Amino acid sequence: MPIFQIILTMKLYIETYGCQMNVADTEIIFSLMADAGYERTEDISEAEVILANTCSVRDNAEQRIWGRIDLFATEKKRRPGVLTGIVGCMAERLKDALLESGKVDIVAGPDAYRNLPKLVAAAKAGTPQIDVMLSHEETYGDIKPVRIDKNGVSAFISIMRGCNNVCSYCVVPYTRGAERSRNPKTIVREACQIFSDGYKEVTLLGQNVDSYFWKGEDGDVDFADLLAAVADVSPELRVRFATSHPKDISDKLIEVMASRPNICHSIHLPVQSGSDTMLVKMRRRYTRAWYLERVAKIRSLMPDCVITTDVIAGFCGETEQDHQDTLSIMREVGYDYAYMFQYSERPGTLAARNYPDDVPPEVKTRRLEEIIALQNQLSLESNRRDVGKVYEVLVEGPSRKNAAELCGRTPGGKMCVFPDSVHKAGDYTKVVVESCTSATLICKLV
Ligand code: SAH
Ligand code: SF4
Ligand code: F3S
Repeated sequence: MPIFQIILTMKLYIETYGCQMNVADTEIIFSLMADAGYERTEDISEAEVILANTCSVRDNAEQRIWGRIDLFATEKKRRPGVLTGIVGCMAERLKDALLESGKVDIVAGPDAYRNLPKLVAAAKAGTPQIDVMLSHEETYGDIKPVRIDKNGVSAFISIMRGCNNVCSYCVVPYTRGAERSRNPKTIVREACQIFSDGYKEVTLLGQNVDSYFWKGEDGDVDFADLLAAVADVSPELRVRFATSHPKDISDKLIEVMASRPNICHSIHLPVQSGSDTMLVKMRRRYTRAWYLERVAKIRSLMPDCVITTDVIAGFCGETEQDHQDTLSIMREVGYDYAYMFQYSERPGTLAARNYPDDVPPEVKTRRLEEIIALQNQLSLESNRRDVGKVYEVLVEGPSRKNAAELCGRTPGGKMCVFPDSVHKAGDYTKVVVESCTSATLICKLV
């Protein structure tokens, strides 16, 4: 028997870019690497392995990551033996080109994370490693994520992977592969675990949650069924989800949302454009009229529902009239919040192959600015409508700007700040909205 045993743990540092699904994936990677003796560090200078979990959705996302790769290279120079890797969507898209750059030791796509410990061990022996195989089955359903959130209040659960939609501008189906849903039993089990660990809010994630489908021995489960099952975990657990696809969001889902008090009345419903011509070219497979009907249905059952969106400015062939149609649908819906982007051509997509990227950069920029200015106004109007209303907020912690104040979110997901010396992160409390900015509701306890 050894008198004492030295357990060697090595340190793993991961930077995460892109969408919330990448955050959930980073938590899976930490879990898989923990089994191989790696412990999480937030300090790059003490890490033996440095990874970036990357995003390819727009060119500027990738450019930023190339900048980080150069920085990782200086870390390797400073501390020989350090390994660096690119994982996630950019790994999938650029594959060998990343290894050939000579700047990284490991390249692993989104379905290759179970193989990461092996890749790291082999790279340590001196040969750069790549695994970008996509899978039709992998959901990491059995892996218990190592949570990396800061507040211990709100957690993400991936309920599916990949996307079958092939919107013409989008690289995600190529980087993430075919859509597959995760066994609902493992999802509900994870939600129970999250709640017993003290979390009060869970966000179910998928590129198109409305097409979630599980064919089980005890019957089929669609997204509305899954959402109801997760909401049943506890009335104290808030349930959110993203992203909904306008072509697939069902009446059944809207009814389940309206009937369960702990399912937050908040829907992220990316419109992309208000012009039918653009929607056809984007291959979104809904029309402006269909979209507005879905919004009307949501509002008829949940008048208080927060509706947010994504908008792309300057897609191929977009005319001034198409752009005006986008501004007018934004006004008509009165979005509470929006993520707004200039079109960025992605190599290999249908749009890149079929349509010239012909809106001049300065026109794209001007249109995006108009979209942003309008949304700021709509967000402010939306928040002004809340002044005088009472909300139950879930406290997330001290406010960023003022340590004497707390911040927390309404069920719709709006950020509130309020003076409070009683509550702490994870508590529910009621506040009344006294005033607002376009980004925040300024409240006091009631
Ligand atoms: N699955 C989600 C969104 C995934 S990507 C959906 O279907 O809506 C997130 C957002 O990035 C998209 O909604 C879109 O607005 C934007 N986006 C995707 N590809 C883009 C591109 N090539 N250029 C600019 N924005 C893009
Ligand atoms: Fe991309 Fe469309 Fe799939 Fe969303 S639904 S990930 S925009 S292809
Ligand atoms: Fe980016 Fe991949 Fe998500 S491309 S948006 S990280 S699915």
